[in-house]
Amino acid sequence: MKILYFTGTGNCLSVAKRFDAELLSVPQMIKNNIYEIEDEVVGIVYPVYAISIPGIVRKYLLQCKIKANYVFVIATYGCVDCGSLHEMKKLLEANGNKADYYTSLLMIDNYLPFFDIVTQLAKLKEKNIENNLNKIVEEINARTTKEENCRWFNNLVSSIGHKVVKQIEKYTPKMFYVNDECVFCGVCKKVCPVSNITQDGTNKPVFGNNCESCLACIHNCPKNAIQMKIQRSEKRFRNSNVSLNEIIESNNIGV
Ligand SMILES: Cc1cc2nc3c(=O)[nH]c(=O)nc-3n(C[C@H](O)[C@H](O)[C@H](O)COP(=O)(O)O)c2cc1C
Ligand code: SF4
Ligand code: SF4
Repeated sequence: MKILYFTGTGNCLSVAKRFDAELLSVPQMIKNNIYEIEDEVVGIVYPVYAISIPGIVRKYLLQCKIKANYVFVIATYGCVDCGSLHEMKKLLEANGNKADYYTSLLMIDNYLPFFDIVTQLAKLKEKNIENNLNKIVEEINARTTKEENCRWFNNLVSSIGHKVVKQIEKYTPKMFYVNDECVFCGVCKKVCPVSNITQDGTNKPVFGNNCESCLACIHNCPKNAIQMKIQRSEKRFRNSNVSLNEIIESNNIGV
């Protein structure tokens, strides 16, 4: 089994890790120029962005050929997934791929402009993540088939999601600023999946315009030195089953 995943704060990686599989991160696949995935079973685990699909995942899947007897898709999200799975189905089919099992999993919402992490963590129990994930793992290991069954109205709304994702990508780096807590450690640079962060003469991070809005930099800064001009939370988040090193290994493309 091989699983393709993309992660900013570890939710998707924590899900991928629950399977006995070789894990393939989207940024590393792009870096290594690998656009074919072949195995008996292939999985795709991605975070919902703007009720749609992250730009980097969309771009990669538009080029990647998947050859497998069973393909599954898991979208992790924090609040509303709307028609994201339907968008994924369309995206796969646009490139001659298809999946046998589609599902989404409600997890912690890491989108700081809208969500407070303290409140999100307080909802962990009611989100029932472990039980829901256990059920998904069981179904996939039994090779169950499951259609995406998003409603037509949700599909309609999500069909403009990728345009919103593009706008979010454009404005996210403009919303960042770095305060005096920065110790110039370079972690933000290492967790960025598209090498959008450089360091200036004093080693302070500088954000470029090639942003995927994953928020890996802001959530994984050990000093909470990166702030957003609009944020609902001082607290940051990384999934408790995922280490900082694992995020770096997933995302550092070392350019
Ligand atoms: C730019 C951005 C947009 C997001 N949009 C949505 C959304 O539309 N609906 C939702 O439920 N969660 C949304 N989220 C929350 C993530 O989908 C969720 O926290 C996901 O589990 C994060 O996965 P990760 O930890 O692997 O990065 C968004 C997060 C980001 C960073
Ligand atoms: S991770 Fe935080 S402390 Fe380290 S260089 Fe980046 S902003 Fe500064
Ligand atoms: S700059 Fe930050 S939010 Fe943008 S892609 Fe890099 S890590 Fe993600």
